[in-house]
Amino acid sequence: MAPGHWLALALWLPLMLTAATAEERRPCSPNKCGNHTISHPFWLPDRATGRSCGSPDFEVTCKDKITPVILTSAAISLGFAILRVSYEDRSLHVVDLGKRYLLQQAPNSCLVPIWNTSAKLSAPFTISPGSLGLVLYSCPEAAGAAALALGGGELVRTGMRCGNESQVLVRAGGRYNGTGGYGRYEGCDSAVMPVLGANGEANASDYVRLIDDGFFLTWELPPPQPE
Ligand SMILES: *[C@@H]1O[C@H](CO)[C@@H](O)[C@H](O)[C@H]1NC(C)=O
Ligand SMILES: *[C@@H]1O[C@H](CO)[C@@H](O)[C@H](O)[C@H]1NC(C)=O
Ligand SMILES: *[C@@H]1O[C@H](CO)[C@@H](O)[C@H](O)[C@H]1NC(C)=O
Ligand SMILES: *[C@@H]1O[C@H](CO)[C@@H](O)[C@H](O)[C@H]1NC(C)=O
Ligand SMILES: *[C@@H]1O[C@H](CO)[C@@H](O)[C@H](O)[C@H]1NC(C)=O
Repeated sequence: MAPGHWLALALWLPLMLTAATAEERRPCSPNKCGNHTISHPFWLPDRATGRSCGSPDFEVTCKDKITPVILTSAAISLGFAILRVSYEDRSLHVVDLGKRYLLQQAPNSCLVPIWNTSAKLSAPFTISPGSLGLVLYSCPEAAGAAALALGGGELVRTGMRCGNESQVLVRAGGRYNGTGGYGRYEGCDSAVMPVLGANGEANASDYVRLIDDGFFLTWELPPPQPE
């Protein structure tokens, strides 16, 4: 083969690879779910082709054709419903659908909150530092009664329970702090979730509304990789 051919091949090959990479990475065109526009870094799978729009974008499903839901890597998670998204501020107003499901199934569903909301979220999502914490305690009946006696009114009994075997109590935990410092009650398991509250305060008695009102997430994308 003449040296000229090798040169042509060497020039042609990298160009082709670059084109393929760009094709895979090309973001899906903005799409609608209800009245929400879904665009980079989120994408709705193309219904016709099921085509993915490339990492690091995040898949969103369109629930009941009106509510975008971010699926998360936690297998048991129902995901997070998006109430509002601001692409300029890179922020999302979301509802933890797993916790809402527990409320809807109560009472006597025998389902208890196990997951901390933060455990169902991975990078690049961060819970807004302005959030308040709501702590849910799952207790066997006796431990729950003891906790209520100890809690001095700050603990509220929820509708989540398992007959007379176990119950779920809730407490407003002040400023949200994913790393802990929420206090424990003997024999009870705790799960922490962020809420918005009002005027910097949350009343545990309003736990249904607090869970429904959701909280804010922000996202930070890594700088684009050189190709
Ligand atoms: C979007 O739709 C919801 C109901 O699906 C409605 O409550 C809301 O007001 C709408 N928002 C805008 C900005 O149109
Ligand atoms: C729990 O409820 C069952 C029936 O619902 C009852 O038979 C049982 O005695 C109750 N146990 C306690 C400790 O109250
Ligand atoms: C949830 O968070 C609390 C407070 O940080 C921690 O004590 C608990 O172990 C966590 N639970 C799980 C299941 O990770
Ligand atoms: C979270 O709470 C822990 C334990 O109380 C404390 O050590 C830590 O500094 C707090 N973190 C923030 C960001 O407030
Ligand atoms: C929380 O709400 C309950 C019921 O609405 C009310 O009785 C209680 O006083 C409130 N607690 C605080 C600290 O505002």
